[in-house]
Amino acid sequence: MSRGKFIILEGGEGSGKTTIVERLKKELPDIVYTQDPGGTALGEQIRDLLMSEKTSGIDARSELFLFLVSRAELVAEVIRPALESGKNVISNRFGLSSIAYQIYGRERPDLLPLYRSVSDFILEGTKPDACILLDVTPEIGIARVRARPGEQTRFDKETLAFHARVREGYKKHVGEFGKPFVIDSDKPLEDVWTEVLKTVNLVLFGTNQ
Ligand code: TMP
Repeated sequence: MSRGKFIILEGGEGSGKTTIVERLKKELPDIVYTQDPGGTALGEQIRDLLMSEKTSGIDARSELFLFLVSRAELVAEVIRPALESGKNVISNRFGLSSIAYQIYGRERPDLLPLYRSVSDFILEGTKPDACILLDVTPEIGIARVRARPGEQTRFDKETLAFHARVREGYKKHVGEFGKPFVIDSDKPLEDVWTEVLKTVNLVLFGTNQ
């Protein structure tokens, strides 16, 4: 049985990831879809904690570790077993988010070696084949977040300067997570969707159809 393919979908707030994943689920239902942080019982609890105000102001190192613990569980419980059984996996966010948010957003370049060594330890070679980055201008992305119903997380509420640093981190490191595909997500959703579907088909099946 050949190993499945692993694609990660990344992008700043308001880049359209969640809507795109919902469409992918309908279009390509045989793929295993998951989200980071989350995707497991422990991971979902860590996600709730990380998104809530309970963790606002925590040390940047503690924040990074919480994301890494959720990811360790996600890889061990969901992603690695699925890939080994030949299934394709798409994750809404993965390690590139930690570099973008905890290292660049939080302005902690000193934590990059820690991120890398712990990631090597938890991933044990489980690496993405491709990374689709939905690249959005922070002003546009944040305006979309503010316009939608529902509560904003403490990350949504960060300053525009924070989101600009996140975008910089994304662009600098997108090449470290398999084959990079950067899609202009300032464009209307329908255009972004067409590009994403084309890219996923190309990575999984070697065709644009
Ligand atoms: P979302 O999945 O609904 O986009 O929310 C996840 C939030 O967590 C988002 O604001 C980005 C943030 N995040 C990090 O700061 N570091 C990480 O490693 C991951 C995976 C997400």
